[in-house]
This record gives sequence, structure tokens and C-alpha cells, in this order.
Amino acid sequence: MQIKFTAEPAGDALAYFAYEGEKGAEFGGGVDKAAEAAFRRAITASSFKGSGGQMLEFLAPEWSDSARVILFGVGKKKAINDVAWQKAAAGVVKKLLISGAKSLSIVGAPDRMVAANFGFGARLAAYRFDQYRLTLKSEKKPTLTTVSIVTDSAAGARSDFAPLAARAEGVEFARDLVSEPPNVLYPESYAERIAKLSELGLEIEVLDVPAMTKLGMGSLLGVGQGSARPSRLCVLKWMGSKEKKSAPVALVGKGVTFDTGGISLKPGPGMEDMKGDMGGSAAVVGAMIAIAKRKAKANVVGLVGLVENMPDGNAQRPGDIVKAAAGKTIEVLNTDAEGRLVLADVLWYAQKKFNPKAIVDLATLTGAIIISLGHEHAGVFSNNDELADKLTVAGKAAGEPVWRLPLGPGYDKQLDSDVADMKNIGGRSAGSITAAQFLQRFVDEGRAWAHLDIAGTAWKPGNDNPMEPVWATGWGVRILDQLVADNYED
Ligand code: BES
Ligand code: MN
Ligand code: ZN
Repeated sequence: MQIKFTAEPAGDALAYFAYEGEKGAEFGGGVDKAAEAAFRRAITASSFKGSGGQMLEFLAPEWSDSARVILFGVGKKKAINDVAWQKAAAGVVKKLLISGAKSLSIVGAPDRMVAANFGFGARLAAYRFDQYRLTLKSEKKPTLTTVSIVTDSAAGARSDFAPLAARAEGVEFARDLVSEPPNVLYPESYAERIAKLSELGLEIEVLDVPAMTKLGMGSLLGVGQGSARPSRLCVLKWMGSKEKKSAPVALVGKGVTFDTGGISLKPGPGMEDMKGDMGGSAAVVGAMIAIAKRKAKANVVGLVGLVENMPDGNAQRPGDIVKAAAGKTIEVLNTDAEGRLVLADVLWYAQKKFNPKAIVDLATLTGAIIISLGHEHAGVFSNNDELADKLTVAGKAAGEPVWRLPLGPGYDKQLDSDVADMKNIGGRSAGSITAAQFLQRFVDEGRAWAHLDIAGTAWKPGNDNPMEPVWATGWGVRILDQLVADNYED
């Protein structure tokens, strides 16, 4: 999808917006007399009042040069924010994407930042994962190729849009990764895709199994040992700050390219979703793309642990005791609690190698977080109130909200083992919290750390957010890029 910023409207379709006002819909800019008369009549004949997501469509109207005109609601003027503007434009694009219209102009943006937000929403709404749909009927294929955002300050809007375009590219890349089938995306092929990102100026390091064995990463390697696909750990480095030596922020991601559960095998129905169990790593890779593309003046390192969790003659068993690189032993009581085993070694490596001033990890870690928070919020767990607050604020601003859950010694006790330093499961109660406690056992005392459990947000069944496709959301790229932009730049 091409996004343009222009002074004059043109195209197969024109879209005008309306606020939800005290006395019904209030038109935004650019509505001429003829359009206004038609809109008023249509509003009287319908339930349109300008609320977010509402739309009226006019086909081949005599009063316009365009074959299609849309009036869309953006909600109440007082309540409107960046995400609401984005979603409103996304709704229009979703509606027109396969309609036959090739070009769309969105009219009336009151300022350059709104124009940029229209552009961002339009672009994310146009995302599709179609490369395996080889016989898709022509009437189901996208027709819309250009969206022009009409604004008096096109140059300003273009420069406001540039960092958002970088962010969108990161989101799209993450969605692709999560959507890829597990026969195509596995640790080695994933690492190859990451290695190519050196084009963007990212410094990439890939650790293979011998390298990880040498570092003593028995916890991560134990998860991958039942797979024919060897594990990888990838590091993506962006040192964009003027202070080249200053401690970076570390972003850590769980990259289980397929989670069968291992010997503690998952039930068959729904198992296909576990191709998305690398959603945390996809968010980290996508965020690094956004950060590099917009040349962020910040030092950020991304680290992703890539493994496939399979049952096999060589797979790890319930009861195995593994030793993590941090020197601690883990009794693996359930091979399906594998994400934390992967992260234990990646967290250790992140701290040892980079001494980061803050660590944020993302993982599709527990089914329990879906029971707690559904698909609306990701869970956040942190040893640092300031970092938790920063994430809460960034998530709200970027449209990826998070909700904090507690940590505490009472929960931590649930992980004590009789035969090793800890077990990898904490029993039935508070499953998302004990998973976070497990991770915290691998975080240095006093180091600012937050864990985002994104099992409910990395993909969503029946997603009705027009900015997101039906399944893979690319969740995490927006909040991480926002967190860095707001807090860690020169
Ligand atoms: N990848 C799953 C968590 C998950 C479940 C993500 C549903 C997305 C949707 C994770 O590896 C897992 O299997 N967790 C177990 C932990 C349990 C064995 C303690 C779970 O949630 O059941
Ligand atoms: Mn699992
Ligand atoms: Zn998993």
C-alpha cells in the first residue's frame, strides 16, 4: 500500500470524517455544499452519529466526481487520541480494500499529526498475509493500492509519518513471522531472516548449538533437543546513541517456532496456533526494525531464543534436571512449560554480555494470562515500578495496553524443588505469576526488568480491530518502539 500526503483530493474513493457531537454528527474539514446535503439526508435516514467505527457509503453519487464517497465517524472530539484517528482511517481502508476501488483520498485532517496517524492506520489496515493463497479468486484480492491523505501541511505530515512508517514496517515484519507456517519458519530459517537485517545497520550475532553448549545453556538447549531443527540464539544490536558506550536497553523474546508441549504433549485441537509461540521474539525483531529504520538515538539490543519444542526419542522428559547458564539447576516437571526455560538462558546472556540498564522480555508464556486478561491487555510483571509505569503509558499511547499483575515471595515459593534449585512449574494457582517468578530468578538483584505475557495478544481469534488482521497482530512492536522513543533516546 502506498501512502501519500497531498493538498488536493483525488481518486476512486473519497472519505470525509465526522465527530460525534452534542447534537449529532459534526463534520470535519473539506465537506462541500453538495456533499453536506447528501450527508445530512443520509444521517437522518440512518443511525450514524459520528462514533468511532461508524461509516456511511455512497456509491456513484451524482454530486461527486468520485465513484465512492464514505463518511466515517471518529468519535467525540474531547476523547479523541492518536489511536482513535488511526483506527478510524483503518476502518475506511478495511471497507475498501477489496471493493474494486484502487485509490482513496482521506480528507479533512485538522493537522499534520492527525494526517500522519491517518496514514499509519491506513497502512496497518492494508496488511494481509496472502503469499500462500495461490488460487485466491480475483474478487477476494485487494484492489486498493494508494491512499492519499489530504492535508494543508503535506511536508510536515510526511516528516511526522516517517517514524510511524518505520514502526509499521516492524509490525508487518512481526505479523509475517507469526503467520509463517512452522515448516517454513524454524530456528535456522528464522535466524537467516534475522541475519539479513544487517542491511538496516543492525549488528547481528547468531549463536548455534555448539556456541550455546560452550556457554552452558542447558536450559534452552534442553527444550530444543527433541527437535530435528537445531536451536539458535540471535542478537540484534542498535547503538544509535551519541554515547556509544552507555548501557543499552535489552529486549528479550521467546521464540518457540512450534510448541507441541514436548513429551508433556498438548491436546491436538488448536495445536496449530502454537506456530505463533514465537510471538515475543517477533515483537523484538519488529521493534528492532522500527528502531533501526527511524535511526533512533538510543542504544537497544534485541535477543531472541529460537527453539522448536518436539516430542522425540531424544526429547527431554518430565523429571529431567537441567543446568542453566546462570549455574542454577531446574527440575523439568512439565516439558510444556518450555518458554521460561528458553528465556532463563537468554536473560542470563543479555545481562552478562550487555549489562543493560533495563530489560523487557516478551513471551507467549501462559494460557493462564488469557483467563485473567483475555485478548485486550497483555500482562506486565516487574521488579521496578518506574519501568512498569513507563510500559503502561507507552502501551496506552501506542494502542497496545498492558495491565500489571503482582510478584511476591509467596508466589516464588511455589517453585521450590526437593531435588534441584527450582522446578519449572508452580502448580495450578496463579500460573502466569509463577511463570514470571521463574523468570525473575534469572534477573540480577537490582536490575530493572519487566516481563510481558502476550499469550492473549500475539494472535487473536476473530479480531475486530480494523488495524489488525484476523490472526497475527504483531503485538509488541508498537509498545516497545514507543517505550524507547519516550524514555531512552538522547
Ligand atoms: N506457549 C504456551 C502458552 C500459550 C497457551 C500461549 C495458549 C498461547 C496460547 C506455553 O509454552 C505453555 O504451554 N504454557 C503452559 C504452562 C503450564 C504447563 C505450567 C500453559 O499455559 O498451560
Ligand atoms: Mn508450552
Ligand atoms: Zn510455549
